[in-house]
This record gives sequence, structure tokens and C-alpha cells, in this order.
Amino acid sequence: MCGIVAYIGHRDAFDIIVKGLKRLEYRGYDSAGVALMNGDLRVYKSQGKVSDLEAISEGKDRSGSTGMGHTRWATHGAPNNENAHPHVSQSGDISIIHNGIIENYATLKEGLIQRGHNFSSDTDTEVLVHLVEDIMDHSKLSFADAVRSALKQVIGAYAIVILSKNHPEHLIAARKGSPLVIGIGDGRGEYFFASDATPIVEYTKKVIYLKDGEIAIVENQEMIIKTIENVVQTPYIQELEMNLEQLEKGGYPHFMLKEIYEQPKSIFDSYRGRFDSATGEFHMRSIEEFGAKLKDIKRLILVGCGTSWHAGLVAEYLFEDFARLPVEVEYASEFRYRNPVLYSDDLVLAISQSGETADTLAAMDLAKRKSATVFGVCNVVGSSIPRLSDAGAYTHAGPEIGVASTKAFTSQVTVLTLLALGIAKLRGAMSIDKIAGVMQELEQIPEKIEKALSLNDEIVKLSEKYKDSRNFLYLGRGYNFPVALEGALKLKEISYIHAEGYPAAEMKHGPIALIDENMPVVVVATNSEHYEKVVSNIQEVKARKGVVIALVSEGNRMLDGLVDHVLEVPETIEPLSPLVNTIPLQLLSYHIAVMRDCNVDQPRNLAKSVTVE
Ligand code: AGP
Repeated sequence: MCGIVAYIGHRDAFDIIVKGLKRLEYRGYDSAGVALMNGDLRVYKSQGKVSDLEAISEGKDRSGSTGMGHTRWATHGAPNNENAHPHVSQSGDISIIHNGIIENYATLKEGLIQRGHNFSSDTDTEVLVHLVEDIMDHSKLSFADAVRSALKQVIGAYAIVILSKNHPEHLIAARKGSPLVIGIGDGRGEYFFASDATPIVEYTKKVIYLKDGEIAIVENQEMIIKTIENVVQTPYIQELEMNLEQLEKGGYPHFMLKEIYEQPKSIFDSYRGRFDSATGEFHMRSIEEFGAKLKDIKRLILVGCGTSWHAGLVAEYLFEDFARLPVEVEYASEFRYRNPVLYSDDLVLAISQSGETADTLAAMDLAKRKSATVFGVCNVVGSSIPRLSDAGAYTHAGPEIGVASTKAFTSQVTVLTLLALGIAKLRGAMSIDKIAGVMQELEQIPEKIEKALSLNDEIVKLSEKYKDSRNFLYLGRGYNFPVALEGALKLKEISYIHAEGYPAAEMKHGPIALIDENMPVVVVATNSEHYEKVVSNIQEVKARKGVVIALVSEGNRMLDGLVDHVLEVPETIEPLSPLVNTIPLQLLSYHIAVMRDCNVDQPRNLAKSVTVE
């Protein structure tokens, strides 16, 4: 997700925009740019942070009381100067900034190229501003109507602001699927636009949250809001109550909680546009371009660290089940120092949120030196790991600010599920019907996660009860053994309570000696082929006075008399159950950490990206 700021009024636009973009850098900061109008239209943009934009525009004409700015979180096209926003039309007279994904940009671009348009970037956004100009060049439509006409051709999500040198009295903004807030200034034709209210709140508390499918047109100091179908709307102006710090976190007390609650959307963004569940078709470049290679690989080696390694453990079950492919999961830090035996028909797949983890990068480097094919599943576009990969897939989870990885984990598992299905299809290991069936269930997951999030209040009570425990044990089997590991990691890294995840069956080989009335044991006991075995493990814990918190499938009341607490989660097919079952464990770790006054977003001793050994 990117950050958008725009202004039209009587003040100096540049200062308002730059200050606002800095407030939005949490939304992504791989490049930044500004467009300013003062008789002419000037665009300054650069890779890097907003401070880099200030540096490159130093000494240049930064005048103008109309302007817009953008801080980018790359989705299409690597982070570089050419792909930075704002983008301009063929003539250079129209400029646009955009937050979102235009899914049909390639088709639109082809048509424009045939009509003589040349493009300087790889972005979907540049296509849109060329389309607006193309419509104006071939019709008598007004600037605003040309923008509406262009947006009606777009499939996907957008929040845009667009300016035209030939219409300096105009500023046009629109949204569909990506947020856009309008601040009502001092009544002298002053309006602020931004991705959220943080850049606006210091100037005005009166805001309008533009709705999906609406377009705001400021012309000669007057603003009108219409639908994309040209129906005038009566906007609802509300008074902001949150302070700046609350606003940056979207009203949540911590980035981590915000990111936990973003998961229905981040998982949707991870699979959006990548398959057709009616036909079982895939639309993933790595599968299309590397299909021949992927079909013939003999072994998959997954490398990662921490939570990403846990995603790899889930993927081990997925690739073995779906693609019947031998899989090894390696801590990158161990793999890089062993002398692993690799062959050219091995596929090494690196998993990383940041794309900069030193051990994972080193493991990839080793694999390349041993002539294996290297893929990457990563969240940060243009980071080192994708650049080192032969191919791969981005998770599109949006920036993850909290050090504890939450939405990145579920997005990694989502993308790994798609890759496992895609390779299963290439290898003929799974029928199209079965593949489509998994896809159709995956499309239900965002809603099931919404439901799992509704356990929050119950989990707050549990957290209150167990926040002073000194040790936790997390147990799971099969696909949910990695969920147990991930739940334990979440708890220990933000609450500093010692916690261990274990395969449930392994308990009798040691950990059962730890069980007593002071040891909460979290057991993932959702419906699965192992359910009865997990219940036996619970009985073993209870026989030793252990305290059991059981995750069960919705409606299963069979454990009520046996365990101390039951958390019912929506049922899904076992291969997708880690996506749902991890949610309550994230909430449990979050609330316990908050109750222990821990620094949830920046836990002690930890960094968001471990770029050193
Ligand atoms: C997980 O909550 C931690 N923040 C940490 O284990 C993290 O997963 C690990 O450092 C790997 O980071 P990466 O995904 O950016 O490579």
C-alpha cells in the first residue's frame, strides 16, 4: 500500500505534501515523488525515502499552491526513479499518483501502445494517466469526464489524484478499494487529500471519507463529489476525534494489532488475480515462465528464518500433499554453513518478509553457486532476495511494521499454497477439480479469518488469566505442528514468556515432564485426520494437572468437560487450517504482551529485518 497526499488552496503545497508523506511512510517508502502546479506542472521523484525527495528537489522550483505527492510500496515494477510516482501522460501535461493495483493494466497498455503511446515505467499507474489523455485526445469530454471514463475501464483497486497543466483550476481524486480521505480546509477553496487522516489532522478536523466508486472534483475552489456514473453525492462531513499517533495505526493501539486485523484483506491481496477458481487456471508469472523447469524438479528445499521458516514447514505438507514432491525445510542459518548436496534439478525456495535477511540471502547464494534453481517468496518488492531469485512470487501483504510477523506469515502460506497447487497441476499430481476445490475454499478464508478475529474478547479474558505464567507449551499435529511453533514464537518474542512449540505426539518424549498446574498448554485440536490422537495428548496433559487451552473447530463441544478453555475457530480443509488457526494465537500473544507492558511493536533485542548474521 502506498501513501498519497495532495493539496489545493492558498498555502505552499510542497511543505504540506512532504510533511504529510513523512506521516505516511509507514505505508511504504521505496520511492517518493511530488507534482507541483504553478502555471506549469513540475514533477520531482526519486527512489528512497521522502527525505531523498527533499534532497533532489532542493534548489529547484518548488512553488505552487496545488500539488500532490506519493510514497511508494512497490507492487508492479521495482523501486526505482522511473517507477516512482507521480507518473505523467504522453504529452507530460497530465500527472497522476495512485495507490492500488490495476489488474487489467497490461490489456489497456497494449491498446495504448497501438495508438502510439510510449511508456517509461513498468507500472500499472502510468497506463492510467496515458488512458486519460488518450480519451481527451479522441473525444470532446471534459478533464473530469475523461477521468471518469478511464476509471470505468479499470479492473482492480485505486485511490488516485490527477492534475492537468491545461486545467490548473482542477484537482481530481477518486477511489475504489483503496482509502482516500478529504480534509475540508478554511473555506477559501482549500482541500486536503490523503490515504488516511494523519497528513490532514493538523490542518483540519473536518473530513470526508470518499466511498468506493466516488470521484471528487475540485474546480475553481468548489468541490463536488459524484459517483463514477456521474451521480452527484451529498458528502458526509465528519469531525476527526483521533490524535495523530492513533491515526497512523488506523485507530489501533499498535501496528501489530492493526496488521493482525488486516489479514482478511492481506490474504485476499496475496491471491487476488492469481487464479480462476471456476476453472482451476493459474495466472502466476513464476508458474507460467518456469513451468517446464518446475515440472521436472526432483526436490524442493525451503529456506528461511523464524516465522518464515514456520511458513516453510507448512509448505512442506502442502507440496508433499498436493505436488507429491520431496521437500526439505532448512533453517537458512544452518543450510548456509553446511555443505549441502544440491543438484541442478533441485529447487531452492527462499521465504522472507523483508527480503533482506542475511542468513537467507547467504543460503540462496550457496544454492546458486551449486547450480540449483532459486525462487523467492517475499513481501518487499525489489528487495535483495527477489533480485537474487530466478523467479518467485510477492506476497502483497503491504508493509508489515510490527516486528512480530503476523500478516506476512499468513500471506506467505497463501502464496506457498498457490505455488504448491500450481506445481501439482504441472506435474499432473492433482486433478483440476481438486485444485479448483482448494481455490474455492481459499476464497472463503478471508471471511473465516474475520470470524476467528471475533474471538478477541474471549482471548482478552484468557490473556488476563495467564499473563503471569512463566512457561507455555504449544502442541499441534500435521499442518498445525508449524502453527504450534509459530504460536510459541509469537508469545516469547513479544511477551518474553518462555514458550515452546512441539508436535503433540512428541510430548511423551520429554516435554511431558514439564507439565503441572502452572503450565498453560495451548493445543490446536481442530478437526483433522489426527483429531483423536490430539485428544489423547490432551488427556495426557490433563492427567498431570496441566492447564489446556484448546482450539477446536466451530461447533465441536466434545472437549468442554476435558479442557480448561475452548476457542472455537471456523472450520476449513486441513491444508488451509494454518491460515485460520494462527489468528487466535497471534491475538493471545498480543494481549498477554500488552498486559505485561511490553513494547509490542518493537520487542527488546529484536529487529524487523535481521540483515546481519
Ligand atoms: C517473526 O515474528 C520474527 N520477526 C522473525 O522470526 C522473522 O520471521 C525472521 O527474522 C525472518 O525475517 P524475514 O521473513 O524478513 O526473512
